[in-house]
Amino acid sequence: MSNIQGIVVIITGASSGIGEAAAKELASKGAKLVLAARREDRLQKLQEEIQNQGGQAIYKVTDVTSAEQMEELAQFALKEFGKIDVLINNAGLMPNSLLYKKQIEDWNKMIDVNIKGVLYGIAAVLPFMRERKSGHIINLSSVAGHFVGAGSAVYAGTKFAVRAISEGLRKEEYGNNIRSTIISPGMVKSELPESITDTDFKPVIEKMYEGAIEAESIARAIAFAIEQPSDVAINEMIIRPTHQER
Ligand SMILES: NC(=O)c1ccc[n+]([C@@H]2O[C@H](COP(=O)([O-])OP(=O)(O)OC[C@H]3O[C@@H](n4cnc5c(N)ncnc54)[C@H](OP(=O)(O)O)[C@@H]3O)[C@@H](O)[C@H]2O)c1
Repeated sequence: MSNIQGIVVIITGASSGIGEAAAKELASKGAKLVLAARREDRLQKLQEEIQNQGGQAIYKVTDVTSAEQMEELAQFALKEFGKIDVLINNAGLMPNSLLYKKQIEDWNKMIDVNIKGVLYGIAAVLPFMRERKSGHIINLSSVAGHFVGAGSAVYAGTKFAVRAISEGLRKEEYGNNIRSTIISPGMVKSELPESITDTDFKPVIEKMYEGAIEAESIARAIAFAIEQPSDVAINEMIIRPTHQER
């Protein structure tokens, strides 16, 4: 039997892409899922799909930029399933642009979702994990959390921050038996490029993404990190398309 059988996993950004694929993968291995995102129709459809396959899933419409809503999400998981074993801080967006274009609204959104959303997620579940002396927090960084390209200054900044926060979390909580994992994908097929508002930049990224791999590739890596015995922590993984250079 998989170590994933019966564990309770909260996934943010479960309404598409990597979050949705991770939900399906973990449900197929017996996890009890708490799906979160803003688009309710998508969450409802995914819940039905998982349930039709014999899996267990509940959902709560949640905006990760609200610390209050993230607290409510954790409470919902506890009320419905009695515990939280894993949080996957996956919600994110990537409206890349060149700095001189001053797309300040996009910068703020990335900082709010990609950094503050991760922090609010950690804040919401950590007290319960510390109390149980058990837990696992998985944060989605990116290859852009390792390398910076023109146009990705702010996005990369947020993804470097995710890696710093995850490593800080590891140093603070390993003694409480709480595992921390950083997942850094390369180009993955999802709705991510749709968040780009810079009309000069969008076609460049769309062309690049022709070589993207399926979201299931990342879902399998997430499952691998979770299903290790509790004394084994997969702290960091980079998963690229074989043909991606940087
Ligand atoms: N695809 C890639 O090539 C790639 C590469 C490296 C890293 N990543 C990272 O992987 C993660 C998942 O991205 P993806 O590729 O699967 O993209 P995606 O298909 O666009 O999914 C992003 C998810 O984030 C959710 N989201 C956005 N803003 C939110 C908010 N304020 N509150 C709650 N949920 C919010 C969206 O749901 P709603 O709109 O319904 O709220 C959606 O479910 C992101 O952190 C991304 O940076 C992706």
